[in-house]
Amino acid sequence: MTREILLLQLGMGGVGRVLVQQVLAQRVALADRYNLSLSYLALVDTSAVLATGDPLSAALITSALQAKQQGQPLASLDDGRPGINWLAMLPDTPCIVVDTTSADGMEAHLQTVLTDGHRVVLANKKPLTGSISAFAALTRRGTTRYEATVGAGLPILATLQSLLDTGDSVTRIEASLSGTLGYLCTALQEATPLSEAVRTARSRGWTEPDPRDDLSGMDVARKALILARTCGLEWEMQHVPATAWFPAERATLSVDAFMEHLPELDAEYAARCAHASVAGNVLRYVATLELGDEPAAAIALRELPADHPLAALRGTDNLFVFTTRRYSTPPLMVRGPGAGTEVTAAGVLADIIATAREM
Ligand SMILES: NC(=O)c1ccc[n+]([C@@H]2O[C@H](COP(=O)([O-])OP(=O)(O)OC[C@H]3O[C@@H](n4cnc5c(N)ncnc54)[C@H](OP(=O)(O)O)[C@@H]3O)[C@@H](O)[C@H]2O)c1
Repeated sequence: MTREILLLQLGMGGVGRVLVQQVLAQRVALADRYNLSLSYLALVDTSAVLATGDPLSAALITSALQAKQQGQPLASLDDGRPGINWLAMLPDTPCIVVDTTSADGMEAHLQTVLTDGHRVVLANKKPLTGSISAFAALTRRGTTRYEATVGAGLPILATLQSLLDTGDSVTRIEASLSGTLGYLCTALQEATPLSEAVRTARSRGWTEPDPRDDLSGMDVARKALILARTCGLEWEMQHVPATAWFPAERATLSVDAFMEHLPELDAEYAARCAHASVAGNVLRYVATLELGDEPAAAIALRELPADHPLAALRGTDNLFVFTTRRYSTPPLMVRGPGAGTEVTAAGVLADIIATAREM
């Protein structure tokens, strides 16, 4: 007998749309393998809630995908209901709420979801990087999964959780966890000026529309905070200070003015790269979490010796190095693409399947 698990998905952007396609594509396999049927109760964007009161038909979901692909809002569909609070659509029986938005302020809604007995799966980092009390409220019952928030589809949090659950002690995590900043480091190493590398990354869609969102290190800091909190540290954002790639006074420039003045930083980065190279080192933007007796975090562009595991990274790949009591020489490493809609959606889907199997 196949069990139906209802999904309510927030977000129909790059990750959300691919996730819907993956859910549809895996339906038969999941029914065969686990007697599990994943059905959409509602899809939500900023314009509307797409819902009919019954599970959405494949034809309606396909229309929603086509509309969003063409840049039209869910409100443009006949069953798109603008002005409805998606919380009102939650059923009486437990379902899974999936947050693939990048919205602020979701914490309170998601806590209501959990209090009402439903489950949560997140690609959105923001609900986990507000106050520690909000993080605890979302995660303490074990009914929220959030693998895709760090390293996209890579098994980073599953690896960490498994180490912790089996009694290992994690003493240090060193990671290159921004594909964008990883690309910039490789480009600098190949003597590309910083401004040119940023321009290229932006034109390929690897940076946020305002590249300072990447260059500030904030995205890396959020991921580092999620790792630290998963390890049990009651840290706030100020415990994971990130060194920005640009001087603070440039934070207030318009995006165009920032890009125009970026070549002024080229000489400094070329000199740092040359300094590293003379010593046989390379530059990498590294998040280091010391998790022993005196926990501390550092997030900065560092010179690393050529034989350091992170020195071998190229392009947009992520690498996580876990040093633990059981894995010290060599440490445990996970490497691979840490961004992209396909791998991120797959990370979310793996969390949905694991949650559904538990329910
Ligand atoms: N892309 C990646 O490689 C990657 C990797 C790891 C994690 N993530 C995370 O995954 C999330 C989604 O990324 P993305 O690239 O898909 O973003 P995106 O393309 O900007 O899509 C965001 C979606 O969320 C919707 N949305 C925003 N605020 C909402 C709200 N309050 N209620 C309902 N829907 C809302 C938007 O609606 P509209 O369509 O109406 O604007 C849009 O459909 C982000 O948190 C991102 O940090 C992404």
